[in-house]
Amino acid sequence: MKTILITGGAGFIGSHLIRLFVNKYPDYKIVNLDKLTYAGNLENLIDIENAPNYEFVKADIVDADVIFEVFEKYQPDGVIHLAAESHVDRSIANPNEFIFTNIVGTANLLNAARKTWGDNSKGKRFYHVSTDEVYGSLGETGFFLEDTAYDPRSPYSASKASSDHLVRAYGHTFGLPLVVSNCSNNYGSFQFPEKLIPLFINNIRNNKALPVYGKGENIRDWLWVEDHARAIDVIFHKGKNLETYNIGGHNEWTNIDLIKLMCKVMDRKLGRNKGDSEKLITYVKDRAGHDMRYAIDSTKLQKELNWVPSLQFEEGIEKTIDWYLENEDWMNNITSGDYEKYYNEQYTKR
Ligand code: NAD
Ligand code: DAU
Repeated sequence: MKTILITGGAGFIGSHLIRLFVNKYPDYKIVNLDKLTYAGNLENLIDIENAPNYEFVKADIVDADVIFEVFEKYQPDGVIHLAAESHVDRSIANPNEFIFTNIVGTANLLNAARKTWGDNSKGKRFYHVSTDEVYGSLGETGFFLEDTAYDPRSPYSASKASSDHLVRAYGHTFGLPLVVSNCSNNYGSFQFPEKLIPLFINNIRNNKALPVYGKGENIRDWLWVEDHARAIDVIFHKGKNLETYNIGGHNEWTNIDLIKLMCKVMDRKLGRNKGDSEKLITYVKDRAGHDMRYAIDSTKLQKELNWVPSLQFEEGIEKTIDWYLENEDWMNNITSGDYEKYYNEQYTKR
């Protein structure tokens, strides 16, 4: 039996990955290591929490001693590292948390893997899950390729870029068997409603203002989260050592077009008059250092490992909206307490 340690498994992408691995690989033992920050929610995993091949460990990757102990105890054959502070706006308000978790936390995992595997790392794999934001911001044309120079422009993307460099350095210097992927914006169920799509679905439902940063002209390349999880599965099992793979949806939307699409779909689903939800659109002060455009070229992954996105965006956004409308309790449980405080601080200043 192989033991796979997945960090950040109680978050948005991590919970989809855990579900996929627990169900698809009954012969693997899946250990989910998560600190359960505001973004970590074990409710995301209720359907598999009692599976015989699943175990949850509450731990902070910033605590080096604890991380060594976890490696010592479980002796993982593979690590898939997703745990991170992930929200750009929070990194602008409080960069330090990002530096500790994303950089120091990643270094702690690398050190623990190195110590545990020693010189005998045959058959082992350290997979670092990263973002396209490390490449910076595109103009009107062009795509991010695996060899695009790094140009991170927010504390979040700078901390992820640092962690990517550290991972690759451990591969080249110490021979740690690694693979890295950089993915575009994900959407789907279980995403914390500080991010554009779930935040706006929740606000439309509750007739609250839709705070569009700047002119809403920034472009993002959206990928269904389950397609990201499938890509991680393929790269983890078939990706080449020391390689990087870009993952994206070939699905670019300006924020304002995407928001108008969500308003239209939700008017229909909520039985509102056409145009009612669009009236909630409110242009607010732009995000500091707001990257203009992200777009991924995922040809390498498609050609070498035969991965393609499975879902068209129009279908995916309908499914996603349906999920949030049907799971009102999930949303209500996390939009209370600390989240409410963050929301008020973030949006009353604007
Ligand atoms: P998320 O914020 O939803 O989840 C992060 C998880 O990490 C949470 O469960 C949280 O509790 C855990 N965590 C945070 N700090 C921790 C710590 N110190 N120790 C242990 N656990 C900790 O994030 P997400 O959107 O699911 O992103 C997961 C990963 O994928 C991140 O590394 C992110 O950079 C990357 N990524 C995200 C996207 C996206 O669109 N969301 C796109 C590309 C890459
Ligand atoms: O590209 C991958 C990245 O995508 C991931 O690495 C990050 O973890 C993830 O959060 C996401 O980053 P973005 O900054 O692109 O996502 P966010 O949902 O915060 O914002 C999407 C776009 O919408 C962005 O241009 C900012 C804008 N926006 C966002 C919010 C929260 C608004 O106009 N209003 C808002 O209230």
